[in-house]
Amino acid sequence: MVAMTKKAILLAGGAGSRLFPLTQIVCKQLLPVYDKPMICYPLATLMLGGLREILVISTPKDLPVLRNFLGDGRQLGIKLDYAEQPKPEGIAQAFLIGAKFVEDRGVSLILGDNIFYGKLDFFREALALKRGACVFGYQVRDPQRYGVIEFDESGRAISLEEKPHNPRSQFAVPGLYVYDQRVVEFCQALKPSARGEIEITDLNRRYLENGELQVKRLGRGIAWLDTGTPTSLLEASNYIATIEHRQGMKIACLEEIALRMGFIQADALSSLIDRLPKGDYRDYLQRVADDGPIPR
Ligand code: DAU
Repeated sequence: MVAMTKKAILLAGGAGSRLFPLTQIVCKQLLPVYDKPMICYPLATLMLGGLREILVISTPKDLPVLRNFLGDGRQLGIKLDYAEQPKPEGIAQAFLIGAKFVEDRGVSLILGDNIFYGKLDFFREALALKRGACVFGYQVRDPQRYGVIEFDESGRAISLEEKPHNPRSQFAVPGLYVYDQRVVEFCQALKPSARGEIEITDLNRRYLENGELQVKRLGRGIAWLDTGTPTSLLEASNYIATIEHRQGMKIACLEEIALRMGFIQADALSSLIDRLPKGDYRDYLQRVADDGPIPR
């Protein structure tokens, strides 16, 4: 039996309080990361993983704006659905909100402020998982800002903690996760934490305690950037600008990815380009169209 492709949830809510006043008017996930809105980057990661059925979750205020920007996804050969998270009551609440969407399929979750750059094989391999869950471990200087994973000498994951004061390792857990179809049931059994949130780390710990959590360590060839503070947002913009200038290629250009992944054909790209305003982005896509759909 062929395993069904997983679905995906892109969680793009939250108050964005660490980015105030930038987020007073503009939704955090639409703030610019160099030359495109932040949400393009996590969406690009999902598309590059081959995921085409995606639920975007955000606040009642921001959801219409995100929907206005991304539409139903048809132009990219994907299907986008939308759901509200009335209050930021935890990352794992995404699975309760999206319970009907997930159905009996496996699902990947990405946070709307996480950027990945590099060879995404680690993600594609994780998506092939049939049972259990998979998270990643990424070495950072300041692990206390994140979920932290501890390994024993044999490299097996042994503990998971959310923002510990005294981290047991330098390995943070990025905001990209893969789960089997039991994720909704497991979330239903979770109790809110002291800060009133259904914690993603509690969900991951449930899989860990079952002996069903795979943890893949990401090598230094992968860039994982988060954009939750003014400094990290600026650093991410500078990083993207540097690579794009050097290579003359865009990172997270959704229309290009749709073409290279075979989600849309050349004629669909051409009519899409016709509708774009004149400028750098349109010129770039025209070059992509002229070169043809070379592999990603
Ligand atoms: O970036 C990776 C980290 O993301 C993980 O290492 C942590 O384990 C995980 O808890 C999370 O930590 P953050 O401090 O970044 O969580 P934050 O509350 O800032 O939420 C991350 C994003 O998810 C943010 O853009 C807002 C969105 N969010 C968050 C919550 C709690 C929602 O849309 N709804 C929510 O209820």
